[in-house]
Amino acid sequence: MVSPEELSHFQTLPKRTVLHRASSLIADGFLFIVGASLALFLIWALLSFTNQNDVAQSFNSQLHTDHPPQLISTFYDDATLSYSIQNDNPIKNWDEKRQQWLRYHYQYQTHNSKPRILLVTGSRPAVCSNPVGDHLLLRLFKNKVDYCRIHGIEIFYNNALLHPKMFGFWAKYPVVKAAMLAHPEVEWIWWVDSDAVFTDMEFKLPLQRYSKHNLVVHGWSHAVYKEQSWTGLNAGVFLIRNCQWSMDLIDEWAKMGPQSLEYEKWGKTQKLVFKDKLYPESDDQSGLIYLLLKENEKWGDKIYLESEYNFEGYWLGMVGGLDNITKGYTEIEKKVGVLRRRHAEKMSEYYSEIRENYSKGVEKRPFVIHFTGCEPCTGDHNPVYTWEACWNGMQKALNFADNQVLRSFGFVHPDLLNSSLVSPLPFDFPLDG
Ligand SMILES: *[C@@H]1O[C@H](CO)[C@@H](O)[C@H](O)[C@H]1NC(C)=O
Ligand SMILES: *[C@@H]1O[C@H](CO)[C@@H](O)[C@H](O)[C@H]1NC(C)=O
Ligand SMILES: *[C@@H]1O[C@H](CO)[C@@H](O)[C@H](O)[C@H]1NC(C)=O
Repeated sequence: MVSPEELSHFQTLPKRTVLHRASSLIADGFLFIVGASLALFLIWALLSFTNQNDVAQSFNSQLHTDHPPQLISTFYDDATLSYSIQNDNPIKNWDEKRQQWLRYHYQYQTHNSKPRILLVTGSRPAVCSNPVGDHLLLRLFKNKVDYCRIHGIEIFYNNALLHPKMFGFWAKYPVVKAAMLAHPEVEWIWWVDSDAVFTDMEFKLPLQRYSKHNLVVHGWSHAVYKEQSWTGLNAGVFLIRNCQWSMDLIDEWAKMGPQSLEYEKWGKTQKLVFKDKLYPESDDQSGLIYLLLKENEKWGDKIYLESEYNFEGYWLGMVGGLDNITKGYTEIEKKVGVLRRRHAEKMSEYYSEIRENYSKGVEKRPFVIHFTGCEPCTGDHNPVYTWEACWNGMQKALNFADNQVLRSFGFVHPDLLNSSLVSPLPFDFPLDG
């Protein structure tokens, strides 16, 4: 759609200096384009404001924003509001507070067409004890930055322990809560564990599917409700809506955490409920399944268990198939010329839609591969597999993803196990000659 900035570019471009006739023809052309663009812009403006509420709302908010930001009072001015997780001082009426902020800052309102997302991830404050740990964390972060840049998602990397007692997997809840308060303009917070890798850079979250839900996790209802397994879902990657319901859930969920006086009691309860749980400490994943089982009427209908695609998938069964998946995609590209076209990275989403149309019957790239149990920072991996398996798996996944990124930059890692090796991509790749 034509934006006002583009219109003003058109208006300043024509210069009647040399070649009078040609330039006046060009100028006429520009005038025509300006006229046509203006007409399109007006139609667009009319279409966007046909809803009376929208008109009223944007009118009101424009009135409000005539005040400089320092004169507008919002929830941020409430001295009692706490960013921390504290049982005695929960956030109340968050939906109203957020709405009020959005009315004052109307430029951040979205009309449901593209809800804003903030991806939140992070790692511990200290140096990694595994000698390659910090290197891996950097690459894992680069992978997330790449995905977010391609899809217009903002990212927050946290490496401070925001609640001194909430360590390990519990550390994410204080961050998620603080991120909701810091970013009232975002509809979703997307927590992604540091050891999760985006392996389909083109995939877009099907947010429409979650429009009636407030929390999305990868899980299977039979494993949660029938088998009552503590691995019935995975809490390492989740989407949580920026709303009061989520504030309440986090408070309830965090009551089982190490900062709570009931931590030990919860460890015992979880061990009793989940027969397959190995260790005695209360953990967040078991905590969420516990809430689904025991307080289902309160939380169940707003929690979406996703299993149709790899919202996140366990690495062990997946990394072995990546080379074959590349082969499948290459075969299609050999047949379909438009998929071989070089293009700007900004056009990635458009080309991925075209690819969709030709990918029937081909094994899809997994969206997210999660290296659960590998512990890249400490190297303290699950003893059922070797560190070498973890390391090779991460190299493969990271380079597999990086190849999708580097393609827009004209390069490729020909060997997924050698991160140092890159080659330039010839024109019309992967067609030879
Ligand atoms: C490789 O991928 C193709 C389709 O892309 C599939 O038919 C085949 O079963 C896969 N082979 C292996 C070993 O995974
Ligand atoms: C994909 O195919 C559908 C149905 O044939 C078509 O409407 C759509 O324009 C195609 N998308 C692209 C980006 O080519
Ligand atoms: C990886 O590629 C680099 C650069 O070409 C090369 O020097 C190195 O020997 C390769 N490593 C392995 C393990 O093949």
